[in-house]
Amino acid sequence: MIATLDIKIQKTTQSRLSSVDFNNLQFGKIFSDHMFVADFSEGEWRNLAVVPYANLSLSPALSALHYGQAIFEGLKAYLSDNQEVISFRPLENLARMNKSAVRMCMPELPEEIFAEGLSQLLQLDKAWVPSQEGSSLYIRPLMFATDEGVGLRPSETYKFIIMTSPVGAYYPHPVRVKVETHYTRAAEGGVGLAKNAGNYGGSMYPAKLAQEQGYDQLIWTDAKDHQFVEEAGTMNLMFKISGTLLTAPTGDTILDGVTRKSIIQIARDMGVSVEERRIAISEMIAAIHNGTLEEAFGAGTAATVAPICAIAYEGTDYELAPLTDESFAFRAKKYLTDLCKGKVADRHNWLLKLA
Ligand code: COI
Repeated sequence: MIATLDIKIQKTTQSRLSSVDFNNLQFGKIFSDHMFVADFSEGEWRNLAVVPYANLSLSPALSALHYGQAIFEGLKAYLSDNQEVISFRPLENLARMNKSAVRMCMPELPEEIFAEGLSQLLQLDKAWVPSQEGSSLYIRPLMFATDEGVGLRPSETYKFIIMTSPVGAYYPHPVRVKVETHYTRAAEGGVGLAKNAGNYGGSMYPAKLAQEQGYDQLIWTDAKDHQFVEEAGTMNLMFKISGTLLTAPTGDTILDGVTRKSIIQIARDMGVSVEERRIAISEMIAAIHNGTLEEAFGAGTAATVAPICAIAYEGTDYELAPLTDESFAFRAKKYLTDLCKGKVADRHNWLLKLA
């Protein structure tokens, strides 16, 4: 239940905007002037406010730090050609965050708090939304447990924050990926479907090992036999083989990506056949060998559409031909960019004007 939707606004007196080089943005390094905050206690969301972006004071006994009740989301806002701040399918992110919340035994966030908090925040920080090609405002909602104490039980109190960051490309170049056949990201019945912090923490060591070998990212495989493609942690994976777009079905172990489902819709709109089904690593490698693998790319909010230029499996690097502007991946990426800039009609009602 919501106590009130009265959102207090406290503006910064020291904007950092003039210190930002919008022509040279890295991913997620700088944060805009304000953040939206809300607290959950006694079964209600309260203390809704937009406040200056600042450090938090937290107890060392904070339950999120010990037992990992911490979830997040990622979505983006764009400055359209007519200077409106447009977000891409934000309610899909809320729905997914609430799914993560249920799985992690955390409270769901009502739509009106999310939508109104986001809108108030973006109205205040509109000038932080970059207009440069390839850049956007990355929006990072997060929720974590705030009970103090080290007894293992679900927290009764939580904090929700929306912070934002003007960003450029997550992967500035095509990515080299390695098929992971030892470590596991997620297993059936586990928490792979949730965007909880621990999933990402657990993926860092195997990803670091791969990075030391010259790869940007992993292709995670199923926990049981390591025979099937899952996702890449930062993005879902897509392959175009013999004219058909293939991607693994979401479920317990694969995040239900908003970009993933949008790309599937775009493919169908463009008349490209799509199959959401398990993809054996052997099928992917055979398609490389026999020349039927036409495209391989990742799809995610941060990554957008990230072409894959090499796939490593069992010690062999398979180099893939660069994608051309005519590829489905680049046409889908252009469609999404044009849509968010207001250049093409929003036929699926994916855009929400925030400011
Ligand atoms: C996103 O795409 O928003 C993500 O959460 C990926 C993140 C690990 C950068």
